[in-house]
Amino acid sequence: MMKNIVVLVSGNGSNLQAFIDACGNKIPNARIAAVISNKSDAYGLQRAIDADINVHSLNAKAYDSRELYDDALATLIDLHKPDIIILAGFMRILSEAFVTRYQGKMLNIHPSLLPKYTGLHTHQRAIDAGDKEHGTSVHFVTPELDGGPVILQAKVPIFENDNAEDVASRVQAQEHVIYPMVANWLVEERLTMVDGKAILDGTELGLSGLETE
Ligand code: GAR
Repeated sequence: MMKNIVVLVSGNGSNLQAFIDACGNKIPNARIAAVISNKSDAYGLQRAIDADINVHSLNAKAYDSRELYDDALATLIDLHKPDIIILAGFMRILSEAFVTRYQGKMLNIHPSLLPKYTGLHTHQRAIDAGDKEHGTSVHFVTPELDGGPVILQAKVPIFENDNAEDVASRVQAQEHVIYPMVANWLVEERLTMVDGKAILDGTELGLSGLETE
């Protein structure tokens, strides 16, 4: 059975592009049913249009509260009968009700080796801390910001004289590989979240997700 993925973006959408490219091959059993942005000028929407995918933009200014916005967002998402929700650079804090509604079905990618550097400006913060290693984490979304169980991380080096852009592009190249791969595990029902833990092929994953070294 083909599964439906709904992708939420706020910006460039390079991770969305990785999903567009993966559906039908690296993710054989899913399609992107819709792409939704909170920013009407997000380049990610153009990428979706170019790929003949349904798009919506939903501006938060029209809503009096986060809860009302999230209700409208959920209504839009549910029109597309999603099996999986992919946050791909969706830069909004989500209400608890919204997160709970999609518990176990919603993934995020965060550009740090969680639990380090939740929130914003992660690349600069890693540089400023003198870190030699940095990376990105795919995790299930839970009500705690950037706090859901990690499924897989990818590490990259930080070299002397790197600026945040150098590090970001190195991180993003890894994101485009690991994010569709993890999503495919969810599509194939190899991955679940039980009692706040990520389980892959019957094995509970640790704090850093799947250990690949
Ligand atoms: C990605 O690097 C992602 O990790 C980050 O935003 C970027 C979006 O790029 N997400 C967050 O910071 C979430 N807090 P993209 O629009 O090119 O996919």
